[in-house]
Amino acid sequence: MLWKKQQNIDRSSSDEVLSPLTEPFRTALISMYAGEPQLGSDGERHKLDEKVRISRELGVWLYNLCRDAKPKATLEIGLAYGYSTVYFLAAIRDNGAGCHTAVDPYQSHWHGIGQLQAQSLSMGDNFRLIEEKSVPALAHLADRAETFEVTFIDGNHKFDDVLVDFTLSAELCPMGGFVILDDMWMPSIRQAVAFIRSNRHDFEEIKTPMSSIAAFRRIHADSREWDHYVEFPDTHGKPRIFRRFTPAFLRRGAKSIARFLGT
Ligand SMILES: C[S@@+](CC[C@H](N)C(=O)[O-])C[C@H]1O[C@@H](n2cnc3c(N)ncnc32)[C@H](O)[C@@H]1O
Repeated sequence: MLWKKQQNIDRSSSDEVLSPLTEPFRTALISMYAGEPQLGSDGERHKLDEKVRISRELGVWLYNLCRDAKPKATLEIGLAYGYSTVYFLAAIRDNGAGCHTAVDPYQSHWHGIGQLQAQSLSMGDNFRLIEEKSVPALAHLADRAETFEVTFIDGNHKFDDVLVDFTLSAELCPMGGFVILDDMWMPSIRQAVAFIRSNRHDFEEIKTPMSSIAAFRRIHADSREWDHYVEFPDTHGKPRIFRRFTPAFLRRGAKSIARFLGT
């Protein structure tokens, strides 16, 4: 399963980036990023697919966000080997409180490695895995009126799934809470984020040092009318309306225009 494109792998990144983290989280992450085989639920150690992980920079950014926001509850969609989980758990331990929920129906595919991280780090009481697809899982969490001050979306990367993940995460997000989407290099994610930017003014986008994510903070209730809809730019940055009503030769640019005019 190919989750991350080559360009998204932080090969140049060094373990120094992990210096804000305390033990045993830092050592656990160094071992994982070094590609050392990790313990699976079958008792065997398994090699990790190095494409399936967040970067150290993003992890430390999530850690710092949680250290600042001191969330009581955090949520992530997409556990895999548990890289992002380790950063969340490190912040919970340093904050002295909090519970992290991971949603992922395919832990067996990852040898149960992500699930075991919390136990290995003595954080089992602060961790819950929901082995379900995100859409039913988040709907059930909403039924139970659970809320999460920080949500990280890194599960199924199809446009419609990501948009539904955001919509449901927004339901679970209290005022002042954060929803973060990973993998902005993917057109499907950029398109979902374009919708959020244009239509979800109950969320404000926050600046981050990373172009690989989009991060939003809840600032209002969702007070849109039932038929609210604002056209949103496509992944090339142009509004769809521009594409629909503009002749193709104009969209193709100056060279085509010159050819059309016979110059
Ligand atoms: C890119 S990986 C997550 C990496 C993880 N955040 C980390 O940093 O280690 C994507 C994960 O999403 C999970 N996934 C795929 N479809 C899903 C769905 N519908 N709901 C929840 N998780 C899903 C996959 O099993 C996989 O573990």
